[in-house]
Amino acid sequence: RRTRATAVAHPNIALIKYWGKRDENLVLPRVDSLSMTLDIFPTTTTVRLAPDTGHDIVTLNGRTAEGEPLRRIVAFLDLVRERAGSACPAVVDSENTVPTGAGLASSASGFAALAVAASAAYGLGLDATALSRLARRGSGSACRSLFGGFAVWHAGLDAATVAEADLASHAEPVLCGDLDPALVVAVVDAGPKTVSSRAAMRRTVDTSPLYEPWAVSSARDLTEMRAALLAGDIEAVGEIAERNALGMHATMLAARPAVRYLSPATLTVLDRVLRLRQDGIPAYATMDAGPNVKVLCRRPDADTVAEALRGAVADGSVVVAAPGPGARPVHE
Ligand code: DP6
Repeated sequence: RRTRATAVAHPNIALIKYWGKRDENLVLPRVDSLSMTLDIFPTTTTVRLAPDTGHDIVTLNGRTAEGEPLRRIVAFLDLVRERAGSACPAVVDSENTVPTGAGLASSASGFAALAVAASAAYGLGLDATALSRLARRGSGSACRSLFGGFAVWHAGLDAATVAEADLASHAEPVLCGDLDPALVVAVVDAGPKTVSSRAAMRRTVDTSPLYEPWAVSSARDLTEMRAALLAGDIEAVGEIAERNALGMHATMLAARPAVRYLSPATLTVLDRVLRLRQDGIPAYATMDAGPNVKVLCRRPDADTVAEALRGAVADGSVVVAAPGPGARPVHE
């Protein structure tokens, strides 16, 4: 049996956000979410069983991992080993082309690729649903990168027990009508974030009076989003995504103390997006745990939108993405 496997995964951007957990250990979210997997910034990860090393050795972009990143990866490998009935350490080598920590979901592509590569190296024969469930344990949003295009992540809220919720909480592809979308990513700041999304969402759930109302309205947003995707209605898709993201940031601004990821440069880009709409170009913004803005538009409008955003992000960069593929093994 091969004891080495490589996988590639792409980041995803949520149009209906995941924000808040109800079980931190199992990474069970408080809300359903929905995302688009991108065709840019892939992560490629190789896992090799290494019986003689004594402990896991993890290299991220050519540098030996330590501290919190290493701890999270080892904890994830422990989950895989537990299922495989193995105690064998691994050597993990991951090349990530996402600007790390910039709210561009590097943990999503990272844990999606790791789930596929590690489960193959340890001989677990998991299907995409089971891999999605597994990737979730590394980082919630990673479960959506198992699938290409649009994917929904079920929170599993109807489940009677925690074990049932664990089974129910995975991503799956979303039915889509005739939609030719692009996501224009305006990187206004590629530096690491000030507060991790993990800590920020915990604080928001614990202290923000706006959290519950947002979670309730987010469930309605998801229903409307599914209909808009099915109808291929980019205006509706964009409007719902933008209000959902702004609502999520409102919950954080109301946390105590406030969590604020949006910077002056973010607001400049948001103004520019509004102006594009006034000029008749459907363009809608969404922001994650960082100041960068991702703008949803029609693919034929993407160059116009990118050009407009370049004018707004003085020394930042602008990248155009289309829907990309789900995480998959790379045959060496
Ligand atoms: C704002 O998946 O990074 O990007 O589960 O704690 O690892 P953990 O959090 P993570 O959170 C992503 C939050 C978000 C919204 C989203 O992707 O849905």
